Amino acid sequence: MKRRGEKITALTAYDYPTARLLDESGIDIILVGDSVGMVVLGYQDTTRVTLDEMLHHTRAASRGVKQALLVGDMPIHTYETPQQAVETATKFLDAGAQAVKLEGGSSECGNIEAIVAAGIPVMAHIGMLPQHVREEGGYKMKGKTPREAEQLLEDAKCVEKAGAFSVVLEIVIADVAKRITNATAIPTIGIGSGEHCDGQILVTHDLIGLFPWFTPKFVSPQARVSEEIRRAARAFIDRTRNGKV
Ligand code: KIV
Repeated sequence: MKRRGEKITALTAYDYPTARLLDESGIDIILVGDSVGMVVLGYQDTTRVTLDEMLHHTRAASRGVKQALLVGDMPIHTYETPQQAVETATKFLDAGAQAVKLEGGSSECGNIEAIVAAGIPVMAHIGMLPQHVREEGGYKMKGKTPREAEQLLEDAKCVEKAGAFSVVLEIVIADVAKRITNATAIPTIGIGSGEHCDGQILVTHDLIGLFPWFTPKFVSPQARVSEEIRRAARAFIDRTRNGKV
């Protein structure tokens, strides 16, 4: 698709109905993201998400997917050595994923190589790394300084060389995302990284307005599902309290 100049579409799903609805809508990639920890499980960030939780949601989502590529997101502390990375990735395949994603650039290239050598496709993820939000002190834009931009380019080339089939660029300065996109043969999938990426990914809850307590600045919600839920719940409460069924 990158070679043909076709944009790649990706959204997250953590359950059967959402995965099936996205799949039936024609999405290219469904990511069972560890963002599940925030928008479904109610954690403050993704650093508490466990492998068991991810596998549980991957199994559910996989039952709804027929066409899209299903990618499972490896949670923090599950790919600390190449051996552990391969074991974790294998569990995602057993749970129904067709590929895995992990966070990190040059520091993760050994893990990516090992997973790819085991026959499992890997999506890389550079730029802002939510699993490191605590060390970073927040969700900060990446690539602002020439040094950061060069590091990101180096990271992208490293993950490509290690065998990743694509790379997520999270909140990277648009010009830097464009440079990375032009410098790599694998597709870049942007989130808050401008229009020049080869594809775009969003957390579905942000896109459909299902997590109204926080919406990232770069998202333009296309629906207000949380308001619909509140409206339906209030209508049910009123009808029931008034003795109607
Ligand atoms: O966990 C997730 O949903 C992600 C995407 C935002 C890329 O990593």
